[in-house]
Amino acid sequence: MEPTTAPTKPQFSPAAQAEIKRLLTHYPEDRSKSALLPILHIAQAEFGGWVSPEVQDLVAETLNIKPIEVYEVATFYTQYNLKPVGKHVLEICRTGPCMLRGSDELTEHLERITGAKVGGTSPDGTFTLKEVECLAACGFAPIVQVREKYYEQLDTPEAVDAMLNELKSLLHRPILPWEENSTLPNSLKNY
Ligand code: FES
Repeated sequence: MEPTTAPTKPQFSPAAQAEIKRLLTHYPEDRSKSALLPILHIAQAEFGGWVSPEVQDLVAETLNIKPIEVYEVATFYTQYNLKPVGKHVLEICRTGPCMLRGSDELTEHLERITGAKVGGTSPDGTFTLKEVECLAACGFAPIVQVREKYYEQLDTPEAVDAMLNELKSLLHRPILPWEENSTLPNSLKNY
């Protein structure tokens, strides 16, 4: 019989711990739960672009709150991914103005090119497609958000191809502010 090994409990890197500590100085000691959203973002960046139940438990432990208080937030906001994702998550706006400017066609085009269906990941693990509501940039519709960057006016195949080529050329995800001075090996900075 194969020996069973307990799954390793996730831990924040020293750089992320330092960033969390810094963030918490912005809140009164008895209101540290208010830092939940940014800490979930740190957790998502640290652990491969998604927050597993174990990672959400770690966030709860870090803030000394109940796990359910993290689950209810992580499942409410579409910014948090609850299952494994590809290297780049493309958040496609599907609200009225973007729809009028061709977001349906954009989504179909992205599905065809990447091989991913909305809600899923391309077979090569490079792209995950998600539909989201208004990204507050309606004047530049149709819009796709990838992490902190907006790709605007994606109403031609050329514009879409340029976005995908730029993303494919990124070997590593961008280094996050709290990682700049980190001594973490690059392998831990990739997803
Ligand atoms: S409707 Fe797409 S950004 Fe507002």
